[in-house]
Amino acid sequence: MARILTGIQSSGRPHLGNILGAIIPAIKLSEQTGNQSLFFIADLHSLTTIKEPDVLKENTDAVAAAWLAFGFDTDKNIFYRQSRIPEVTEFTWYLNCFTPYPMLTNAHSFKDKSNRLSDVNAGLFTYPVLMAADILMYDANFVPVGKDQIQHLEMTRDIGGAINHHFGEVLVIPEALLDESVMIIPGTDGQKMSKSYGNTIDIFQKDKALRKNIMSVITDSTPLEAPKDPDTCHVFALYKLLGTEEQVAEMRSNYLQGNYGYGHAKQALFELIKEKYASQRETFVYYMENRTELNRKLEEGEAKAREIGHQVLQRLKKTLGYVLK
Ligand code: ADP
Ligand code: TRP
Repeated sequence: MARILTGIQSSGRPHLGNILGAIIPAIKLSEQTGNQSLFFIADLHSLTTIKEPDVLKENTDAVAAAWLAFGFDTDKNIFYRQSRIPEVTEFTWYLNCFTPYPMLTNAHSFKDKSNRLSDVNAGLFTYPVLMAADILMYDANFVPVGKDQIQHLEMTRDIGGAINHHFGEVLVIPEALLDESVMIIPGTDGQKMSKSYGNTIDIFQKDKALRKNIMSVITDSTPLEAPKDPDTCHVFALYKLLGTEEQVAEMRSNYLQGNYGYGHAKQALFELIKEKYASQRETFVYYMENRTELNRKLEEGEAKAREIGHQVLQRLKKTLGYVLK
């Protein structure tokens, strides 16, 4: 049985880009037979950038609720909060002592973040070692990640490899799974949808706010009567990602024929999202309003994760000389 593990940042409420680009593909992967998936919310990593406790907690719950809303099977798989198995920070220390300092200074994501952020803390610098501990402490075989995380995976392999080289086969060395078929979802301004660009679509909002969000998609000033080019329009680009072939063909012909305004297209997009994701939106709200139940689901996963993590931690401690063999 292959063990697949991935961490999900809890740095904001999940948006349509996260859903189509990460949540749905990862859930599909977890549904393949013969795999066991460990998906966790990387809420310790979030502290590198989020310093407001309420925001941290709210984001963590919202990310969990989104995964549950999209049908992640928490009975078959393991779903947990990173911070609830705090031994991962102990594991991180052991790994720190096998991590060459220059490896961290060469990390692209640290260079990028330290140029962008005003709070450049040591947590940002050692972020990849905590990530290596996340992976190595659970004997993961495969780690689905986006391109930006490939270097972190290489570091994980190097750190694990250094320990194995020194002591023999102690840790499982993971492989990255890069899904090239995942598309980049455009935001309300046509750039990549991202929290950092403020161009996201939050499908879990109430109807009124969702409608307002969709009405904010940027369009040009072609008058209502004039024919429009669907292929340069951000509204159409989003509709195309979500609609059926027939729906998309119909909107295309409306654009080309004229007398169809961007307001009409936005209204159609709003209705499509409401219809397509009706059950997911309902489940999300259900968990956000029933936090005890949400917490219980996570605690069940945490008990299972702890069992695996403890075994690997003991194995490493014995190897290092902290526990009698
Ligand atoms: P953001 O850019 O909003 O900060 P994250 O970097 O936290 O999003 O991304 C979380 C996950 O969602 C990653 O796996 C990432 O690849 C995926 N993702 C984020 N934005 C998009 C997008 N616009 N299109 C496709 N996938 C995306
Ligand atoms: N760094 C990852 C990201 O930004 C999140 C993450 C933390 C992760 N620990 C992980 C991903 C372990 C995979 C495995 O998306």
